[in-house]
Amino acid sequence: MMRQRIWIVLLFWVMGGYSACSSSDTADNQSPGNIDADSDADSDADADTDSDADSDTDADTDADADSDSDSDADADTDTDTDTDTDSDTDSDTDSDADTDTDSDIDSDTDTDTDSDTDTDSDTDSAIILQETEVCTMDGVVESDHVGFTGDGYINTDNRVGARISWAVSAEAAGDYNMEWRFSNGGADARGANVVVNGEIVGSLTMVSTDGWEMWQSEQLAVDLISGTNSVGIEAVSDEGLANIDSLTVTGNGVALAGCGETDGDADADTDSDTDTDTDSDTDTDSDTDTDSDTDTDPSCTEPESGFYQMEDLDRGVIAVQSGGSIYVGWRMMGYEYDRGNPSNVAYNVYRDGNLITTVTNSTNYLDSDGGSGSMYSVSAVIGGVECETSAPTAVIGQNYIRIPLDSPGDYEANDASPGDLDGDGEYEIVLKWQPYNAKDNSQSGYTDNTYLDGLELDGTRMWRIDLGRNIRSGAHYTQHSVYDFDGDGRAEVA
Ligand code: GCU
Ligand code: CA
Ligand code: CA
Repeated sequence: MMRQRIWIVLLFWVMGGYSACSSSDTADNQSPGNIDADSDADSDADADTDSDADSDTDADTDADADSDSDSDADADTDTDTDTDTDSDTDSDTDSDADTDTDSDIDSDTDTDTDSDTDTDSDTDSAIILQETEVCTMDGVVESDHVGFTGDGYINTDNRVGARISWAVSAEAAGDYNMEWRFSNGGADARGANVVVNGEIVGSLTMVSTDGWEMWQSEQLAVDLISGTNSVGIEAVSDEGLANIDSLTVTGNGVALAGCGETDGDADADTDSDTDTDTDSDTDTDSDTDTDSDTDTDPSCTEPESGFYQMEDLDRGVIAVQSGGSIYVGWRMMGYEYDRGNPSNVAYNVYRDGNLITTVTNSTNYLDSDGGSGSMYSVSAVIGGVECETSAPTAVIGQNYIRIPLDSPGDYEANDASPGDLDGDGEYEIVLKWQPYNAKDNSQSGYTDNTYLDGLELDGTRMWRIDLGRNIRSGAHYTQHSVYDFDGDGRAEVA
């Protein structure tokens, strides 16, 4: 009997010692003499040392089972006061009654915090197309009148039908907003049709802004198709369009698209097929060559069609001393560039007949090993095939050339226009000689004759035209244009 009692007390001692070790209480105060069954100093029945009835170790008095000090029944630690039933742990302070369960803290501009599919602007984007990002324009880029953004604005020809077009790609079919920034210093409003994918879809009225340096905007919501869209505005009055600074397009996933890709499909070609051929090149025919006979690939031979008719010029290599190096620059012909495959063209640069580099991403090269006596030539490499190499060009010491002139008398060298007059592929210059007594016809008195000289770049005079006594001499007369207008390889003077 005695042996059995001693055994039970020892068992409590052992249990008390075990409990003290696992609590934060100190082992020093342990005593097997306490009234309760545990071994700590307080009087409740649990194993911790605070005086409440729960089994946690904090000092709060709430009835919940968590360890925080608030009085709600959930397990989160947020401080918001909303009444929704979601279980998120975000820290927003909204008081809406939505039932969503997301935990985002999104930054869109509506008043809820959900991520639903409503019409708010969180997936919209906007692009601003400047004058450099137009596809076609009947006019010129100007920067005369301040207040524009970008590099300037487009001054279209003053006529009905003068047009500017852009290419825009849209993520999905639907409504997109177009906003044109314009200036109209004329007295009257200028109207325009808005043409999307070949259809007139609306019109714009560009009111007078009371000066060419004052700018306003005009908007129109238009339907775009998914993929590439052509967007244009076309003047409906004799005065052409207002000066156009930019076009801003806003909507779901808008992006600048390549010009010419107005067929609406996602591929890079200009036809409306979806490129069902099986070869790996970027054109839509099924052969794999890069020649120009039946497809539009560039080649060494200038193609008959598919490109704008331009002047028939040579490679135009120049080499200029630039610090301790030689800057070498040259022309890229339009037909050498393949939009769908830009890396198809490269240029080999030769110094004194030796290949020194192949340039793949520009039309110039800074040769740090060249000298003032070096001679440079360049060839295009198209689809891996090297084309004709240009004649060697000598280095010039500065970034201009001097052309010796032969004045007809009391004259100043006035306007000049370049053009290839003799069809050798190099520019010549047509120079207008203006007498010292030149004056506008708002002033009385005679002027001496105006002359035009055709000059080689070394100063050799090919011809001189005396315009005669019936042509007034002055800044407002004889604006001569020099260009190969009829495409026969030699420039005309108009
Ligand atoms: C002026 C003005 C141009 C403008 C033109 C016009 O020439 O300088 O910027 O485009 O008038 O009437 O369209
Ligand atoms: Ca104009
Ligand atoms: Ca602009």
